[in-house]
Amino acid sequence: MRVLLTGGAGYIGSHTAVELINAGHTPIIADNYSNSCPEAVERIGRITGCNVETHTIDMCDAEAVDKLFAEGHFDACIHFAGLKAVGESVSIPIQYYRNNIDSTLVLLDAMQRHGVCNLIFSSSATVYGTPDKLPLTEDSPTGGCTNPYGWTKYMIEQIIRDAAVANPELSAVLLRYFNPVGAHASGLIGEDPSGIPNNLMPFISQVAVGRRHHLSIFGNDYNTPDGTGVRDYIHVVDLAKGHVAALPYCDSHKGCIAVNLGTGTGYSVKQMAEAFAEINGVPVPYEYAPRRPGDIDACYADPTRARELLGWEAQLGLSEMCRDTWNWQKNNPQGYKGAD
Ligand code: NAD
Ligand code: UFG
Repeated sequence: MRVLLTGGAGYIGSHTAVELINAGHTPIIADNYSNSCPEAVERIGRITGCNVETHTIDMCDAEAVDKLFAEGHFDACIHFAGLKAVGESVSIPIQYYRNNIDSTLVLLDAMQRHGVCNLIFSSSATVYGTPDKLPLTEDSPTGGCTNPYGWTKYMIEQIIRDAAVANPELSAVLLRYFNPVGAHASGLIGEDPSGIPNNLMPFISQVAVGRRHHLSIFGNDYNTPDGTGVRDYIHVVDLAKGHVAALPYCDSHKGCIAVNLGTGTGYSVKQMAEAFAEINGVPVPYEYAPRRPGDIDACYADPTRARELLGWEAQLGLSEMCRDTWNWQKNNPQGYKGAD
């Protein structure tokens, strides 16, 4: 299938491009490089031996997107493009609502006008807000998001559901990611946050490589076995394969369905820091710090629906997550910026 990846130069999009090529599909990337760089696309080429067709385009630019659809033929779209920094979304909510929602509206409009019916959307476990029961199934209550970023995902899910009701030809899979970590085993592509990382794994690996002094563990009085927050970390290559598995489902069904992509296992912050240090033989000094506003005690998926509907389940464990994160970090201590 020819698959348009909006935001395909980013962390999850680049890994998905590799897995699509491995499975015999043709990814086409559309990205404005607001949080990525063309080097990532070069690296996809080095891993796969394929030159990926790439368009530098803002997915909010309706005219440019219409031209893209008029000139290309797509069997499906995977919509990764979006702004994703939780803290930043609190400071600049209007940019978050505009970018994330406008890009989706422009995409849906172009798909409808050009007869493209298959859509996979990058949603997030953040739509579940503060869970009252674990593990989270797709039928768990949604809403009660704690930041504008989370609300954009919640609202976009609703927009896509409404679009599928109005257009019976549309088939949409809302993939609710848990906590993506790790990198491609080659060490050529990985997560490259700008500035101080917000997320745990990039922070741990920057401590290990000497770019940060120590990890601050936000809270040790949560209602969890060791008091630190528990999350469902999923290797990005498993996550990428989840998109490949969603394509045939999407192509053979109509309507809109949400599917969790998680492992079903939760690890605490302390366990993650200690596992990273032990598996890679590097020190990860940490100190306890106050809770981060908006954080929840624990969050992990019930991955049954993904197994039953998509025939997908996560294969990689904590050691591969830690090993591959470190392999990427030590080969690219300054991320893509340090590339020749
Ligand atoms: P990323 O920032 O690495 O990738 C997003 C890509 O979208 C970037 O390449 C960026 O340049 C591009 N982009 C942003 N706005 C655009 C626009 N208007 N037009 C064209 N390109 C645009 O992030 P990621 O971690 O790869 O996340 C991909 C998607 O998955 C995002 O929608 C994110 O919200 C979602 N998600 C991520 C996580 C996570 O922890 N990484 C968790 C849940 C959901
Ligand atoms: N944490 C620390 N120190 C840090 C960074 C994080 O202790 O320096 C802790 C957090 O308090 C939390 C855990 O590590 O307990 C994970 O935090 P992340 O920021 O890595 O991830 P979150 O679970 O907060 O959020 C992530 C994404 C969201 C997404 C959500 C669910 O950032 O976009 O997973 O998919 F919505």
